[in-house]
Amino acid sequence: MSASRPILVTGVSGFAGWHLARALARHAPVVGTYHTRPIEVAGVTTLAIDLAESAVTGALIRSLAPRAVVHAAALTDPNDCERRPEAATRANEIATANLVVALDALAPDAPLVYFSTDLVYPGDRAFSRETDPTGPLMHYGRTKLAGERHVAARRGVWTVLRCALLYGPPAPFKSGATGWMRERIQRGEPLTLFTDEYRTPVHVDDVIAAVERCVDGAPGAANRILNLGGGERLTRFTMGEAVARALGRPTDCLVPARLADSTFPAPRPADVSMDTRALAALLGRRLLSFQDGASRRSDPLP
Ligand SMILES: NC(=O)c1ccc[n+]([C@@H]2O[C@H](COP(=O)([O-])OP(=O)(O)OC[C@H]3O[C@@H](n4cnc5c(N)ncnc54)[C@H](OP(=O)(O)O)[C@@H]3O)[C@@H](O)[C@H]2O)c1
Repeated sequence: MSASRPILVTGVSGFAGWHLARALARHAPVVGTYHTRPIEVAGVTTLAIDLAESAVTGALIRSLAPRAVVHAAALTDPNDCERRPEAATRANEIATANLVVALDALAPDAPLVYFSTDLVYPGDRAFSRETDPTGPLMHYGRTKLAGERHVAARRGVWTVLRCALLYGPPAPFKSGATGWMRERIQRGEPLTLFTDEYRTPVHVDDVIAAVERCVDGAPGAANRILNLGGGERLTRFTMGEAVARALGRPTDCLVPARLADSTFPAPRPADVSMDTRALAALLGRRLLSFQDGASRRSDPLP
């Protein structure tokens, strides 16, 4: 395999893609794609592409012959996906299917790392395992699960990463799961957070470490589904408390509320916390605690 073949990262104008492209570019040539929001990323060649156009995706894979693909592009706002189901199916399922077809035809030796979501689980239990039944409550989750099935049916090597709430230093267009909490708490503004919605938030540094292993074809990553979450089951409210502690600010601006009393266009599962022992085994270490992650300094944007 030629060392000069690039790693392709899709969705580099997004939160995960931006962090991943920057990190992978420290060790390898990286090409990153965006769709509507042009972006420059240090050390990365960026291109505009609509991955839902099969001919365009095929031409991209033919011209790059990537040595690995990290597919982080998606329509990610569940409420937007519920309101615009065809757009969500196009961006999340059809784009993924296009990538799989193009890779199997043109770069079959390139591992494909697909970002799925904890929202493929129905939310009826704590610490879902990778082998537990799926059953997404909303269209976003259904399109991501459909993407998983295309990926797992490919001939070449694949990994599905079921990603939890992502947090870490802000990216240019998105600040991650804790960004808005930090801003409100720093300004002392009321911040309403659910006390009955459970997640296993994951710091972007653990995400980068996992993806690096997948791209390198680590045995614990090939042809499997992995829960990509942190080690702790937290409510939004307890996350807010940890962010306030990290900032050295009082918690009196936090306002408790109940998901059970709320309505959103996209139904939200109560508990999509995940069992992340397989991820910790892949990394060979403990996952970052939420308190430590929330206390990590944000590196400045280039
Ligand atoms: N963030 C989270 O907490 C979280 C949680 C669970 C799972 N995930 C999954 O992790 C991945 C990354 O999420 P994120 O929050 O980083 O995403 P994001 O910030 O919303 O960015 C999404 C990216 O996808 C691109 N995109 C959308 N439609 C496209 C299309 N048709 N063709 C090509 N590119 C397209 C966007 O391009 P433009 O912006 O240029 O249009 C953008 O770069 C997604 O697969 C998501 O489902 C994220």
